Amino acid sequence: MSFKHQKVPKSVVLPSVPSDAPGLRYEKPELGSNYWVVDEFFKHEEAMAIRSSCLKKEVWKYGKPYTKELWPGMRTPNALNSKQLKKIEKYVKSVIKKNKLWVADSNKVVVDTNTAILVGAEEGASRPHVDNRYLCRYAAVLYLNPDPITSAGTSFYRLKYANEAAGGNIVDPPYANLVDALNVSSLPYSAWYKDIDIENRFNRLIIFKGSIVHSASEYFGDDLNTKRLAITFFWMCED
Ligand SMILES: [Fe+2]
Repeated sequence: MSFKHQKVPKSVVLPSVPSDAPGLRYEKPELGSNYWVVDEFFKHEEAMAIRSSCLKKEVWKYGKPYTKELWPGMRTPNALNSKQLKKIEKYVKSVIKKNKLWVADSNKVVVDTNTAILVGAEEGASRPHVDNRYLCRYAAVLYLNPDPITSAGTSFYRLKYANEAAGGNIVDPPYANLVDALNVSSLPYSAWYKDIDIENRFNRLIIFKGSIVHSASEYFGDDLNTKRLAITFFWMCED
């Protein structure tokens, strides 16, 4: 059988997942259950002010292709002020139905939460991954381009086996990430089916379980004003 599908085809019966292959459980991404989308999260003027304050920041860290970091583009911390951050956290707690969120404290890894991430078309590509379970239970992204490429939002993925079988998408305990769960150092993009795409819209907040395989769908732009700008958040909560 030889066919190429980026997404799991609806009209074709796929072979079963090979029984000897490492796998992941599949948890279908369902709006209101394991991911949430809210438009116009802030008042338009406030979202524009957040965007310009991010772009005016003077201190940035650089990722690919400028350094050996795995992450692309450039980023700067403290993107939202505490009032704005509280508004987001209150909303997140209400939808995930938890009383308490906190940011993981790690001496090994920097948890880049409340961090503005600016990535141009030439600087990055989709990289399906899960957020390390020790550092994140829920993640959020606030998109901040007034005129984005709408297909450059966030996508969820599921494993695509060599025989084209569609596998799972979530890392369960005791594993923390895909490297542990699948016993591989990395997987090519072709090892994934795209499952769900969330469009990029200005001032849209998305929240999702960080253990579901996901990635920025694509990047765009070539200067400060046109590159894909988003603020990302990572929280821990009680299981
Ligand atoms: Fe992530």
